[in-house]
Amino acid sequence: MIYKNRNCTLYQVNLILKSIIFLGLGILVCTNCKEKARPNQNPQELAILSQLSEYDLFDKDENGNLIPKQFGTSYTLNTSLFSDYTHKDRVIFLPKNSQIQYESDKVFTMPIGTIISKTFSMPADLTKPTEDLQKLETRLLINQPKGWFAVSYTWNQEGTDAEIAYAGKNIPIQFKDTDGKKVNFTYSVPSRNQCTSCHQSYEGRSQSIVPIGPKAKHLNKEISTIDGNIKNQLSIWKEKGILAGLPYFAVPKLVDAFDNHHSVEDRARAYLDINCSHCHQGAGAAGMNSKLILTAEESNLSELGLCKTPGSAGKGGGGLRYDIVPGNADASILYYRMATQDSGAMMPQIGRALVHKEGLELIRNWINSMPAKECP
Ligand code: HEC
Ligand code: HEC
Repeated sequence: MIYKNRNCTLYQVNLILKSIIFLGLGILVCTNCKEKARPNQNPQELAILSQLSEYDLFDKDENGNLIPKQFGTSYTLNTSLFSDYTHKDRVIFLPKNSQIQYESDKVFTMPIGTIISKTFSMPADLTKPTEDLQKLETRLLINQPKGWFAVSYTWNQEGTDAEIAYAGKNIPIQFKDTDGKKVNFTYSVPSRNQCTSCHQSYEGRSQSIVPIGPKAKHLNKEISTIDGNIKNQLSIWKEKGILAGLPYFAVPKLVDAFDNHHSVEDRARAYLDINCSHCHQGAGAAGMNSKLILTAEESNLSELGLCKTPGSAGKGGGGLRYDIVPGNADASILYYRMATQDSGAMMPQIGRALVHKEGLELIRNWINSMPAKECP
């Protein structure tokens, strides 16, 4: 009840009846719920706060790890966006007594007042990807009456709090890769404009910011629950009462791009979908002009890049002629642009500084596994 402004009076009355000590507490709680931008049911604008802690979204355990408050639901995706080998924790915080609406082929509809957070941390050693994590940034998407608002908060050295970073930030990082080699690089926290480059949609007439991950195809997966069982993530949401409209069958699903049980084709298409299709789709930034469509549903092979000459010539092409030459990754621009760290050519052009070795290898195997063909 402390998350709702309008319960304050009732709450206080109740407390007066109980004891004076609790009344003191009650006033404290009420002052807080006026000032802080907690998700609430009123379709009013939430204040954008300067410190992450002010939103009161997380508790901390004894090691400083963030534990989402009760109204938060942690979730994972079948495959993640590659972000320089960082570890990511995602949480959806819903206003009290509200629900997410299931959609089969687009982002789930979320109530106004929803906050989605994504916290990025760097493991000191990639062979132990969930240990010794340095918290870097927590990105927030806040569903305001006027639409989604995007901004990141960067963590202080001690990992005690994070501060709003409208303009982004560069953070020098060192870690050990899976071969035990030391890697130094500059991690780049995106500016608000950069959030928009990936999170924008031109659906309808105007440009707007949209979430990317909360779609059926990414969330439809088995996860282990606290009591050690394996359960479907969306079924858990439904049982918890936070998801409306989940059908009993025909829920779309993409494979985990790094699960060898699946075909290279399915894995590569899942990888391109989550890593590229937010720009490379009909309503995205790149789809508009380059006409290279990298969603998992795309069935037109030419739009997927096969024997397609790029819309934009020059440096980005690395001297090559086609986005994908079937059977020949080395002759394919798509492969080249994932393999390069050259800022004028690399894809995606923001959101990474390093090459994703494992992702690159997957795309290489996929292109090389296609029946070889000369492009006209
Ligand atoms: C390079 C493209 C890119 C940029 C830049 C980017 N994002 Fe995202 N973001 C994604 C993708 C793709 C996902 C979904 C995949 C995932 O979570 O791994 C995502 C997920 C998220 C999520 C979880 C909810 C969701 O939409 O899936 C939040 C919150 C978020 N981003 C906030 C931000 C903010 C704030 C910024 C700017 C500071 C930002 N992002 C910049 C691509 C980007
Ligand atoms: C932040 C948005 C964004 C993301 C994410 C992104 N791209 Fe692009 N991409 C663009 C834009 C804009 C262009 C057109 C300008 C250019 O060629 O640099 C483009 C062009 C391309 C081209 C040339 C296509 C043509 O036919 O003109 C290829 C190939 C490509 N991208 C591959 C990828 C791959 C593979 C990924 C994911 C690993 C990816 N891109 C992710 C924005 C993006």
